[in-house]
Amino acid sequence: MRATAIAQPNIALIKYWGKRDLERNLPAVGSISITLRDLYTEMCVELDEGLSADRLTVNGAVDDALLPRLSACLDLVVGRSRPCARIVSRCNFPIGAGLASSASAFAATTLAAAHAAGKSLSIEALAGLAGQSSGSAARSLYGGFAELENRGDAIAVRALCGRDEWPLSVVVAITETGPKAIGSTEAMEISRKTSPFYSNWVERQKDDLGTAREAILKRDFEQLATIAEHNCLKMHSVMWASRPPTVYWNSATLRCLESVRELQGAGLGVFFTIDAGPQVKAVCLPEYADDVRAALSATEGVDDVMVTGLGDAARLTDVA
Ligand code: DP6
Repeated sequence: MRATAIAQPNIALIKYWGKRDLERNLPAVGSISITLRDLYTEMCVELDEGLSADRLTVNGAVDDALLPRLSACLDLVVGRSRPCARIVSRCNFPIGAGLASSASAFAATTLAAAHAAGKSLSIEALAGLAGQSSGSAARSLYGGFAELENRGDAIAVRALCGRDEWPLSVVVAITETGPKAIGSTEAMEISRKTSPFYSNWVERQKDDLGTAREAILKRDFEQLATIAEHNCLKMHSVMWASRPPTVYWNSATLRCLESVRELQGAGLGVFFTIDAGPQVKAVCLPEYADDVRAALSATEGVDDVMVTGLGDAARLTDVA
């Protein structure tokens, strides 16, 4: 009745922004991501008939912020007539700050909950369930490069390229550790309902996905860099033009973009991407990781820098 799983966050190079079915959490667009190696969330789920309510501790302290969504995730995976659960979470990076903590949390919870309930589900089924809890979580069931496809009535993910088949480094520049002002679920709906750029964003995504997929299959860093930066800036333009606008960036975010532009000007293979938060992720060829880390560490307003390679799929670490 107890299982523990670990999942790594993933960052999208071609972004998921917008839903076509709120109830089933089906995305309006496909997305392509890389799973990170050195950031993780571990989730232990214990189903206990003796409990009268679900309980959650995060890094040793009671924390109810994510409990309603985690309880809904357990209902999906185990069934609504399930016993209550004791959920113990450990995470080695800031939560709710635009570092895909919900992706790793829901991927690990889905996997742990299925095993705690004695269910043996395929990775496709697990990804489908994780994606209903948080769209990006479906991708953390996979390692390396993964594509979440926008087709049919279920969330479907496929592996594009293993982490060792194209080893890239990711330098994460933390510019603010507090939780973001507005969650991505809510901000996406505001974009869908009010942004004049939203329909164009959805229409053009197929082209960006095709370009990125081709770049990954050819291991063409320049092509991937160009399309990933374009897609990221386009997603943020959709948000900025929403009413009310959603602006996740701060001044250090912009300064990091300038640092990346300077590195590119000096001939380094690096590009940036930014999600629903002010942190900047600089994806680079491994030989440039030290230079990228040094440049971002020296950028005014950067609190911390983490460097990681590409990671593995979510996995089970204990079943009792
Ligand atoms: C900007 O997966 O957090 O990181 O499905 O509502 O939980 P929900 O959204 P979520 O959105 C991620 C948005 C993004 C882009 C991406 O990861 O593709």
